[in-house]
Amino acid sequence: MQTLTVFSVGEDPRLRRIETSIHKKSDVRWLSDESFPDGIPNASEAGFTPLLFVVAVDDFGIDEDFVRMLRSIRVMGKDALQGCAAGVVLLGSTELDTKNAVRELIFALNLAGCAFPERPLVEATGSMRNLRVTMRTHALETLEDALAFSVEGLIERLLNFAPVRYPNPRLLVLHASDRPTSNTLALGDLVLDALDARFSVKTLSLRNGTIEDCRGCPYAVCSHYAEKGSCFYGGSISKEVIPAVQECDALLLLLPNYNDAVGANVTAFINRLTSLHISGGLSGQRLYAVVVSGYSGGDIVAKQAMGALCLNRSFLLPPHFCLMETANDPGEAVRLPGIRQRAASFAAQINRNLLADQL
Ligand SMILES: Cc1cc2nc3c(=O)[nH]c(=O)nc-3n(C[C@H](O)[C@H](O)[C@H](O)COP(=O)(O)O)c2cc1C
Repeated sequence: MQTLTVFSVGEDPRLRRIETSIHKKSDVRWLSDESFPDGIPNASEAGFTPLLFVVAVDDFGIDEDFVRMLRSIRVMGKDALQGCAAGVVLLGSTELDTKNAVRELIFALNLAGCAFPERPLVEATGSMRNLRVTMRTHALETLEDALAFSVEGLIERLLNFAPVRYPNPRLLVLHASDRPTSNTLALGDLVLDALDARFSVKTLSLRNGTIEDCRGCPYAVCSHYAEKGSCFYGGSISKEVIPAVQECDALLLLLPNYNDAVGANVTAFINRLTSLHISGGLSGQRLYAVVVSGYSGGDIVAKQAMGALCLNRSFLLPPHFCLMETANDPGEAVRLPGIRQRAASFAAQINRNLLADQL
């Protein structure tokens, strides 16, 4: 049995049951946050080193121990966690703070080079009502059973994590920008120029045609359309964009910062992906992003994209998934000091993660 290293932060009455679920699935080294980062095992030759973070947030949100852990991840350096893959179990004592805490943690770990498998989060809010669908779908008796079931599933995904590599990876680039002036597109081009020639790249604009946001159809209606590879609204998202997402091995989103969020067209695209999620059409696609802010806040946009696609949907999060830059005047992005080198090392990261012959 593979050994799983668990770092636990905070106290929660549900921890005991979770511990039992984890022990059922693997050999465990259960460490407290004080053992972080010294307790991280040396990278193994074969496959990823699995790490699990079990975090409890109380009525007042994240505490000093959690912040200390976040900071120690950030000071570890850029590649300290290359070769590691992580999952997170987040227990909240109220209905607030869980998603925010997990985004901070996953973002920090990813900046240190950590990868994440499909659906890397198990979350239990104070009431555990967020687990009702899991309980119903899997005919479980209690919400506690649903939590234990979800934890066991996460451990399995983590221990079996072996993302596929390809001789000719297919990269889908999505944007919603105006080509002649966009800093985000110019930076995207720098990255694509540095990508290995064995990639096949398809670029689609989300500005083609009218984009309708998700209508929030009932589950049965959404599934009905999804089975036919469509959606209530149809249009370019259903006909062109969603099939391209289904066919790709990795998605690269080009994201200008609009009011510290992704733009409306990208939001509509993400919401419309619900049909693909419901029909099980996502199969190990990696998520990458290039974020350009005029002034500040690129990390917020990156966390939004990561949360929507890797926590709420099932994209894989590869190490260093996002290139974040600041540029406002037209043409400024490509004139930033050192930008070609940063774009090239971001492209090299994509090459390493997807090409079959890379270690
Ligand atoms: C509607 C709108 C909202 C924006 N909001 C922000 C913001 O909140 N923070 C920021 O740093 N830049 C903001 N910007 C500036 C863009 O992020 C900036 O122009 C950047 O170069 C990316 O845009 P581009 O790819 O279109 O050039 C905003 C721009 C627009 C058009």
